[in-house]
Amino acid sequence: MAAELLDGKRLAEEELDGLRDRVDALKKRGVTPGLAVVLVGDDPASQTYVRNKGKACEKAGVYSRTIILPADTRQSHLEKLIDELNRDPEIDGILVQLPLPVGLDEQRILARISPEKDADGFHVLNAGKLLTGQATVLPCTPKGVIAMLKAANVPIEGKHAVVVGRSNIVGKPAALLLLRENATVTICHSKTPDLASMTRQADILVAAVGRANVITADMIKPSAAVVDVGINRVNGRLVGDVDFERAFKVAGWISPVPGGVGRMTVAMLIDNVVELAAARRGRA
Ligand code: GUN
Repeated sequence: MAAELLDGKRLAEEELDGLRDRVDALKKRGVTPGLAVVLVGDDPASQTYVRNKGKACEKAGVYSRTIILPADTRQSHLEKLIDELNRDPEIDGILVQLPLPVGLDEQRILARISPEKDADGFHVLNAGKLLTGQATVLPCTPKGVIAMLKAANVPIEGKHAVVVGRSNIVGKPAALLLLRENATVTICHSKTPDLASMTRQADILVAAVGRANVITADMIKPSAAVVDVGINRVNGRLVGDVDFERAFKVAGWISPVPGGVGRMTVAMLIDNVVELAAARRGRA
Protein backbone atom coordinates (compact mmCIF):
# COMPACT_ATOMS: atom_id res chain seq x y z
CA MET A 1 0.00 0.00 0.00
CA ALA A 2 1.17 3.52 -0.70
CA ALA A 3 0.53 6.59 1.38
CA GLU A 4 -1.72 9.48 0.46
CA LEU A 5 0.38 12.53 -0.29
CA LEU A 6 -0.10 15.56 1.96
CA ASP A 7 0.24 17.96 -0.95
CA GLY A 8 1.40 21.21 0.63
CA LYS A 9 2.06 22.83 -2.73
CA ARG A 10 -1.54 22.43 -3.90
CA LEU A 11 -3.06 23.31 -0.54
CA ALA A 12 -0.85 26.40 -0.21
CA GLU A 13 -1.95 27.59 -3.65
CA GLU A 14 -5.60 27.17 -2.62
CA GLU A 15 -4.93 29.05 0.62
CA LEU A 16 -3.23 31.88 -1.26
CA ASP A 17 -6.19 32.09 -3.69
CA GLY A 18 -8.55 32.48 -0.74
CA LEU A 19 -6.24 35.02 0.87
CA ARG A 20 -6.17 37.11 -2.30
CA ASP A 21 -9.95 37.50 -2.02
CA ARG A 22 -9.63 38.61 1.60
CA VAL A 23 -6.87 41.04 0.64
CA ASP A 24 -9.04 42.46 -2.16
CA ALA A 25 -11.88 43.01 0.33
CA LEU A 26 -9.50 44.81 2.71
CA LYS A 27 -8.12 46.93 -0.14
CA LYS A 28 -11.65 48.06 -1.03
CA ARG A 29 -11.77 49.50 2.48
CA GLY A 30 -8.45 51.24 1.95
CA VAL A 31 -6.35 48.69 3.84
CA THR A 32 -3.42 47.05 2.05
CA PRO A 33 -1.89 44.47 4.41
CA GLY A 34 1.87 45.00 4.70
CA LEU A 35 4.71 42.72 5.82
CA ALA A 36 8.26 43.73 6.70
CA VAL A 37 10.83 40.95 6.48
CA VAL A 38 14.17 41.54 8.14
CA LEU A 39 17.14 39.42 7.13
CA VAL A 40 20.43 39.84 8.97
CA GLY A 41 23.50 38.27 7.37
CA ASP A 42 23.92 36.20 4.23
CA ASP A 43 22.87 32.66 5.11
CA PRO A 44 21.89 31.14 1.74
CA ALA A 45 18.94 29.12 3.12
CA SER A 46 17.54 32.19 4.88
CA GLN A 47 17.96 34.20 1.67
CA THR A 48 15.85 31.61 -0.19
CA TYR A 49 13.14 31.58 2.51
CA VAL A 50 12.96 35.38 2.54
CA ARG A 51 12.72 35.50 -1.25
CA ASN A 52 9.86 32.97 -1.19
CA LYS A 53 8.02 35.02 1.44
CA GLY A 54 8.26 38.13 -0.76
CA LYS A 55 6.98 36.19 -3.79
CA ALA A 56 4.00 34.85 -1.82
CA CYS A 57 3.12 38.38 -0.68
CA GLU A 58 3.11 39.49 -4.30
CA LYS A 59 0.85 36.58 -5.26
CA ALA A 60 -1.64 37.43 -2.52
CA GLY A 61 -1.56 41.19 -3.18
CA VAL A 62 0.14 41.92 0.15
CA TYR A 63 2.62 44.80 0.29
CA SER A 64 6.05 43.55 1.36
CA ARG A 65 9.28 45.26 2.30
CA THR A 66 12.48 43.26 2.70
CA ILE A 67 15.24 44.82 4.75
CA ILE A 68 18.66 43.17 4.47
CA LEU A 69 21.32 44.02 7.02
CA PRO A 70 24.95 42.90 7.29
CA ALA A 71 25.92 40.04 9.63
CA ASP A 72 27.81 42.45 11.93
CA THR A 73 24.69 44.56 12.59
CA ARG A 74 24.56 45.72 16.20
CA GLN A 75 21.75 44.79 18.55
CA SER A 76 20.86 48.47 19.11
CA HIS A 77 20.61 49.11 15.36
CA LEU A 78 18.27 46.16 14.84
CA GLU A 79 16.14 47.19 17.81
CA LYS A 80 15.87 50.74 16.42
CA LEU A 81 14.73 49.34 13.06
CA ILE A 82 12.08 47.24 14.79
CA ASP A 83 10.89 50.29 16.76
CA GLU A 84 10.47 52.13 13.44
CA LEU A 85 8.55 49.24 11.89
CA ASN A 86 6.36 49.04 15.01
CA ARG A 87 5.38 52.68 14.37
CA ASP A 88 5.05 52.37 10.57
CA PRO A 89 1.36 52.58 9.59
CA GLU A 90 1.92 50.63 6.34
CA ILE A 91 3.32 47.62 8.20
CA ASP A 92 0.95 45.11 9.79
CA GLY A 93 3.38 42.23 10.24
CA ILE A 94 7.09 42.13 11.12
CA LEU A 95 9.20 39.02 10.62
CA VAL A 96 12.82 38.70 11.64
CA GLN A 97 14.27 35.72 9.83
CA LEU A 98 15.93 33.24 12.18
CA PRO A 99 18.54 32.19 13.05
CA LEU A 100 20.19 35.55 13.71
CA PRO A 101 23.99 35.77 13.48
CA VAL A 102 25.87 35.02 16.70
CA GLY A 103 26.20 38.07 18.90
CA LEU A 104 22.58 39.13 18.49
CA ASP A 105 20.14 38.33 21.29
CA GLU A 106 17.30 36.56 19.50
CA GLN A 107 14.84 36.59 22.41
CA ARG A 108 15.32 40.30 23.00
CA ILE A 109 14.82 41.06 19.31
CA LEU A 110 11.63 38.97 19.13
CA ALA A 111 10.31 40.65 22.28
CA ARG A 112 10.94 44.06 20.72
CA ILE A 113 8.39 43.38 17.95
CA SER A 114 4.97 44.73 18.86
CA PRO A 115 2.77 41.71 19.75
CA GLU A 116 0.13 43.25 17.45
CA LYS A 117 2.58 43.05 14.52
CA ASP A 118 4.12 39.66 15.36
CA ALA A 119 3.75 37.86 12.01
CA ASP A 120 5.47 34.69 13.31
CA GLY A 121 3.75 34.43 16.68
CA PHE A 122 7.20 34.24 18.30
CA HIS A 123 6.75 37.12 20.77
CA VAL A 124 6.77 35.79 24.31
CA LEU A 125 3.28 37.25 24.92
CA ASN A 126 1.82 35.42 21.92
CA ALA A 127 3.71 32.22 22.79
CA GLY A 128 2.23 32.51 26.29
CA LYS A 129 -1.25 32.97 24.88
CA LEU A 130 -0.83 29.80 22.82
CA LEU A 131 0.38 27.95 25.91
CA THR A 132 -2.60 29.11 27.97
CA GLY A 133 -5.18 28.46 25.27
CA GLN A 134 -5.95 32.08 24.35
CA ALA A 135 -6.64 33.23 20.80
CA THR A 136 -3.46 34.57 19.21
CA VAL A 137 -1.37 34.67 16.07
CA LEU A 138 0.09 31.18 15.54
CA PRO A 139 3.60 30.19 14.43
CA CYS A 140 3.41 29.57 10.68
CA THR A 141 4.95 26.10 10.35
CA PRO A 142 2.91 24.38 13.09
CA LYS A 143 -0.21 26.17 11.83
CA GLY A 144 0.54 24.78 8.37
CA VAL A 145 1.04 21.27 9.76
CA ILE A 146 -2.41 21.30 11.37
CA ALA A 147 -3.99 22.77 8.22
CA MET A 148 -2.46 19.96 6.12
CA LEU A 149 -3.71 17.24 8.48
CA LYS A 150 -7.20 18.75 8.55
CA ALA A 151 -7.35 19.21 4.77
CA ALA A 152 -6.61 15.49 4.36
CA ASN A 153 -9.17 14.57 7.05
CA VAL A 154 -6.51 12.92 9.19
CA PRO A 155 -8.13 12.19 12.57
CA ILE A 156 -6.34 14.06 15.38
CA GLU A 157 -8.62 13.90 18.42
CA GLY A 158 -7.74 11.02 20.72
CA LYS A 159 -4.78 10.03 18.53
CA HIS A 160 -1.19 9.77 19.69
CA ALA A 161 0.92 12.50 18.11
CA VAL A 162 4.69 12.26 18.44
CA VAL A 163 6.70 15.39 17.69
CA VAL A 164 10.41 14.88 17.15
CA GLY A 165 12.16 18.18 17.88
CA ARG A 166 11.59 20.78 20.59
CA SER A 167 12.44 24.11 18.97
CA ASN A 168 10.49 27.26 19.82
CA ILE A 169 9.75 27.68 16.10
CA VAL A 170 8.31 24.24 15.34
CA GLY A 171 8.47 21.43 17.91
CA LYS A 172 7.01 23.12 20.98
CA PRO A 173 4.22 25.07 19.22
CA ALA A 174 3.36 22.03 17.04
CA ALA A 175 2.93 19.96 20.21
CA LEU A 176 0.67 22.65 21.73
CA LEU A 177 -1.47 22.89 18.60
CA LEU A 178 -1.87 19.10 18.44
CA LEU A 179 -2.82 19.16 22.12
CA ARG A 180 -5.38 21.86 21.36
CA GLU A 181 -6.84 19.45 18.79
CA ASN A 182 -7.15 16.87 21.59
CA ALA A 183 -4.33 14.59 20.53
CA THR A 184 -2.23 12.85 23.18
CA VAL A 185 1.17 14.38 22.57
CA THR A 186 4.72 13.15 23.13
CA ILE A 187 7.71 15.38 22.44
CA CYS A 188 10.99 13.63 21.62
CA HIS A 189 14.41 15.21 21.24
CA SER A 190 18.11 14.48 20.96
CA LYS A 191 18.30 13.06 24.50
CA THR A 192 15.35 10.68 24.04
CA PRO A 193 16.63 7.12 24.40
CA ASP A 194 15.33 4.64 21.81
CA LEU A 195 13.60 7.17 19.59
CA ALA A 196 12.22 4.42 17.35
CA SER A 197 10.22 2.90 20.20
CA MET A 198 8.48 6.27 20.61
CA THR A 199 7.89 7.07 16.94
CA ARG A 200 6.46 3.58 16.34
CA GLN A 201 3.61 4.52 18.70
CA ALA A 202 2.68 7.59 16.67
CA ASP A 203 -0.60 7.86 14.79
CA ILE A 204 0.68 11.28 13.77
CA LEU A 205 4.42 11.75 13.48
CA VAL A 206 5.86 15.24 13.08
CA ALA A 207 9.55 15.22 12.17
CA ALA A 208 11.23 18.53 12.97
CA VAL A 209 14.85 17.64 13.60
CA GLY A 210 16.72 19.18 10.69
CA ARG A 211 18.76 16.10 9.76
CA ALA A 212 18.25 13.97 6.66
CA ASN A 213 16.93 10.42 7.08
CA VAL A 214 16.61 10.44 10.90
CA ILE A 215 13.16 8.92 10.46
CA THR A 216 13.40 5.61 8.64
CA ALA A 217 10.53 3.40 7.50
CA ASP A 218 10.97 0.95 10.40
CA MET A 219 10.28 3.82 12.84
CA ILE A 220 6.81 4.44 11.40
CA LYS A 221 3.61 2.77 12.54
CA PRO A 222 1.76 1.36 9.51
CA SER A 223 -0.91 3.81 8.24
CA ALA A 224 0.37 6.70 10.39
CA ALA A 225 0.30 10.30 9.16
CA VAL A 226 3.88 11.51 8.70
CA VAL A 227 4.54 15.23 8.46
CA ASP A 228 8.08 16.08 7.46
CA VAL A 229 9.14 19.56 8.56
CA GLY A 230 12.84 19.10 7.74
CA ILE A 231 14.51 20.94 4.90
CA ASN A 232 18.00 19.56 4.39
CA ARG A 233 20.35 19.91 1.47
CA VAL A 234 22.11 16.66 0.56
CA ASN A 235 24.41 16.74 -2.47
CA GLY A 236 22.55 19.77 -3.78
CA ARG A 237 19.16 18.08 -3.38
CA LEU A 238 16.47 19.16 -0.91
CA VAL A 239 15.29 16.37 1.37
CA GLY A 240 13.34 16.20 4.60
CA ASP A 241 14.03 14.38 7.86
CA VAL A 242 12.16 11.28 6.66
CA ASP A 243 13.44 8.60 4.30
CA PHE A 244 10.56 9.39 1.97
CA GLU A 245 10.91 6.59 -0.61
CA ARG A 246 10.60 3.80 1.94
CA ALA A 247 8.35 5.62 4.40
CA PHE A 248 5.85 6.22 1.59
CA LYS A 249 5.16 2.46 1.50
CA VAL A 250 4.41 2.26 5.25
CA ALA A 251 2.62 5.50 6.10
CA GLY A 252 -1.07 6.25 5.57
CA TRP A 253 -0.31 9.89 4.74
CA ILE A 254 3.01 11.57 4.14
CA SER A 255 4.18 15.07 3.22
CA PRO A 256 6.94 15.40 0.61
CA VAL A 257 9.99 17.67 0.68
CA PRO A 258 9.97 19.90 -1.27
CA GLY A 259 6.27 20.60 -1.91
CA GLY A 260 5.06 19.89 1.62
CA VAL A 261 5.20 21.86 4.85
CA GLY A 262 7.51 24.57 3.47
CA ARG A 263 4.84 25.80 1.08
CA MET A 264 2.28 25.86 3.86
CA THR A 265 4.58 27.84 6.17
CA VAL A 266 4.65 30.68 3.65
CA ALA A 267 0.88 30.56 3.04
CA MET A 268 0.23 30.66 6.81
CA LEU A 269 2.54 33.67 7.12
CA ILE A 270 0.39 35.58 4.64
CA ASP A 271 -2.69 34.40 6.53
CA ASN A 272 -1.19 35.84 9.72
CA VAL A 273 -0.42 39.18 8.05
CA VAL A 274 -3.98 39.44 6.72
CA GLU A 275 -5.33 38.60 10.21
CA LEU A 276 -3.07 41.18 11.85
CA ALA A 277 -4.07 43.84 9.30
CA ALA A 278 -7.76 43.10 9.81
CA ALA A 279 -7.38 43.17 13.60
CA ARG A 280 -5.37 46.39 13.67
CA ARG A 281 -7.14 48.34 10.91
CA GLY A 282 -10.69 47.00 10.93
CA ARG A 283 -12.23 43.86 9.48
CA ALA A 284 -13.35 43.63 5.87
N1 GUN B 1 13.60 30.31 10.34
C1 GUN B 1 13.13 29.08 10.06
N2 GUN B 1 11.79 29.07 10.10
C2 GUN B 1 11.40 30.32 10.40
C3 GUN B 1 10.13 30.93 10.58
O1 GUN B 1 9.06 30.32 10.48
N3 GUN B 1 10.16 32.25 10.88
C4 GUN B 1 11.31 32.94 11.02
N4 GUN B 1 11.22 34.24 11.33
N5 GUN B 1 12.50 32.41 10.87
C5 GUN B 1 12.54 31.10 10.56
